[in-house]
Amino acid sequence: MSVGRAISHESAEAHVTGKALYTDDLTTRYPGVLHAWPVQVPEARARIEALVIDEALKVEGVVAVLTKDDVPGENDVGAGRRDEPLFPDEVVYWGQAVSWVLAETEEAAKLGAQKVRVEVTPLSAILSMDQAIEAESFHTEPGRIERGDVEEALKSLPYVADGELYIGGQEHFYLETHAAIAHADEAGGVHVESSTQHPSETQEIVARVLGVPKNQVVVQSLRMGGAFGGKEVQANPWAAIAAIGCAKTGRPVRVRLDRLRDFTMTGKRHPFLGRYRVGFDGDGRILAFDAAIYSDGGWSLDLSAPVLHRALFHADNAYFLEHVRVVGRVCKTNTTSHTAFRGFGGPQGMLVIEDAIDRVARTLGLAPHVVRERNFYREGHTTHYEQRVEQADRIARIWTELRESSDFDARFAEIEAFNSIHDDVKRGIAITPVKFGISFTATYYNQAGALVLVYRDGSVQVSHGGTEMGQGLHTKMLQVAAHALGLPLERVRLMPTRTDKVPNTSATAASSGSDLNGAAVKHACDQLRERLGQIAGRMLDAHPDEITFEDGMVFRRDLSGEAIAFADVVDKAYLERVQLSASGFYRTPGIHFDAAAGRGKPFHYFAYGAAVTEIELDALTGMYRFVRVDILHDVGDSLSPLVDLGQVEGGFAQGLGWLTQEELWWAPDGRLATANASTYKLPSVGELPEVFNVRLLARATEPGAIYGSKAVGEPPLMLAISGREAIRHAVASFAAPGQPVELAVPATAEQTYWAIERAKKLLARGGPRDERASTNVGQTRAAE
Ligand code: MTE
Ligand code: MOS
Repeated sequence: MSVGRAISHESAEAHVTGKALYTDDLTTRYPGVLHAWPVQVPEARARIEALVIDEALKVEGVVAVLTKDDVPGENDVGAGRRDEPLFPDEVVYWGQAVSWVLAETEEAAKLGAQKVRVEVTPLSAILSMDQAIEAESFHTEPGRIERGDVEEALKSLPYVADGELYIGGQEHFYLETHAAIAHADEAGGVHVESSTQHPSETQEIVARVLGVPKNQVVVQSLRMGGAFGGKEVQANPWAAIAAIGCAKTGRPVRVRLDRLRDFTMTGKRHPFLGRYRVGFDGDGRILAFDAAIYSDGGWSLDLSAPVLHRALFHADNAYFLEHVRVVGRVCKTNTTSHTAFRGFGGPQGMLVIEDAIDRVARTLGLAPHVVRERNFYREGHTTHYEQRVEQADRIARIWTELRESSDFDARFAEIEAFNSIHDDVKRGIAITPVKFGISFTATYYNQAGALVLVYRDGSVQVSHGGTEMGQGLHTKMLQVAAHALGLPLERVRLMPTRTDKVPNTSATAASSGSDLNGAAVKHACDQLRERLGQIAGRMLDAHPDEITFEDGMVFRRDLSGEAIAFADVVDKAYLERVQLSASGFYRTPGIHFDAAAGRGKPFHYFAYGAAVTEIELDALTGMYRFVRVDILHDVGDSLSPLVDLGQVEGGFAQGLGWLTQEELWWAPDGRLATANASTYKLPSVGELPEVFNVRLLARATEPGAIYGSKAVGEPPLMLAISGREAIRHAVASFAAPGQPVELAVPATAEQTYWAIERAKKLLARGGPRDERASTNVGQTRAAE
């Protein structure tokens, strides 16, 4: 049995020994390779008046300086909308590249780039969402999902609270920065090595800038040293530069961004601004939720529209909201173009409702977890876009199991008691749920292909359309293929992802890599097994249906008669001229969405989970540490439990970093001031919880997905919301009853300190009412 076995990542050993190859490692395999370096302009917005390259060309080792005139095809790399000129006439964010220098060495390319003279006229820039809203600078028309009558409901409910929440962005900080190498093949086509999550789109963009048909371009994505959404569309420009350089010089060209370039030239998780009104009854039941959310899209559209939509789709998290209106819009600003990042807008949408829930709880003097569970989806409920919440009982089941296994109730009581007698040290604990929709919301994306080759000795090669970024997709695909063919894992080899093996693939994203590619791999293997079953039936004198394949052997299911080796069946099939390769295909059934109406079934199913986080806070400094985390997460019947545990732990840690430590600072001139590891604080081992208990939900078969499993890549990130709420719990011990507790995102130590000071000040002044006007914090009223 290969599926469900706890095995290590297929490249684990290569990762730790350094044997694993990444795109840039291939550079040495291309004799005569040229190195590319960008010419960046230090203005948030400026018109380019002149670009003078003569001096650069005189630098020893410089071979060419690429400008607009060198683009054989179209000068645009926008993946959806064509709004990304590769060589721009106007600079629209600080550090944008306007030209690239190619040289014999990276050093020479850097020197050359310094010698390119760019004359610009600075123009006024929009550097925040507030400015964009004021100036009506948007990438999109408003999107909305609505159910019931929010206005009427808000009028009739006894309680209404409102709030505003600014949510910070996040740098992907994949260990491997962006990289691409292009070289010409003998037929005049181009072969591109790219650290991309979406080889087919990289192929499309390279073909576009070269002005050639796609069959002239082959893209290979060997593996990525992390991607997290940052290489879903943003790998394309670098591949395009390499390909254009290659077309101009006839030599291989390598592009690799160093950390500073990667930070300043690529997009991040979208910052969001959420404003909401929430109407509820005296028991804390939310009956109306009205939210307006804005995201900062940066300079180009990129994936901002579907990211915003996923935020709208997840504005409910795990809660049934009867009357809802969520409206969202993407701001256009002069900053890097923000892009996919693990959760894809879902985390931001969920933060808004979780913020509202806390406000409801504080208003009524109820514990937040009580308000949370009173609002859970139950069997038969539908979401605000009218998708039935199947397996809704899992929310309560996970919640109850986790509350018990983490001893939540007793610890909550202890912490309340502790806080009542301690002034300088406070503790906090919170439990929060996650419900996350699985599928690309662009329905056509939910398809995948695979190619399985069986050689005459019975060994197998598997290609599929997904890419490996450390998440363990290749490991799972190995397990699926071995399982489906009844082979030991060693007989199966996973091949690097290439566009000439499987065409027209979707990005490996939306956590659906193993759902989609796994089903395609299985489809190919099933065909092979069917063909081989016929042969084996004849060899074993049995009906093909009575034949079973297991551990490299083929025998009758009732174990009567002999067992023959898989390889012998294969050889016999070969001699009988039976095809020993198969391509597989899968499309997710039953999903659809009408964007205009805001109705449909965009998700194949939901992934669920919950987490309890406990923190301890030094109230004098705002510094805190994570004492203990307990997680119970639903991955269906895990395809690969070790891989899944790693995904849950890693996703949680990444979410915790976003919500508590990672802070992006843009200087007033639009420059990113936190553009390296020295200024941008990543969570490290020291900040991880001292006790970290992660369990996968048992008895959790998902009937609609590959071998009963569920997607795992993104959902656990949002479990980290429990960390933010735990900090809020500790801060709340300084607040008067009924008073909202505001906490910044990220809730850095500094921001936590200010939250405590705010709470203390409010308390001293006798409650929230006096503070309303001066701090513009959300206000709470009892209507009658
Ligand atoms: N895990 C690792 N180690 N590295 C990554 O880059 N990306 C995440 C998640 N887990 C990522 C990761 C994101 S954003 C997604 S969408 C999924 O993996 C994509 O892979 P999957 O669909 O195979 O789960
Ligand atoms: Mo993941 S953000 O869907 O690449």
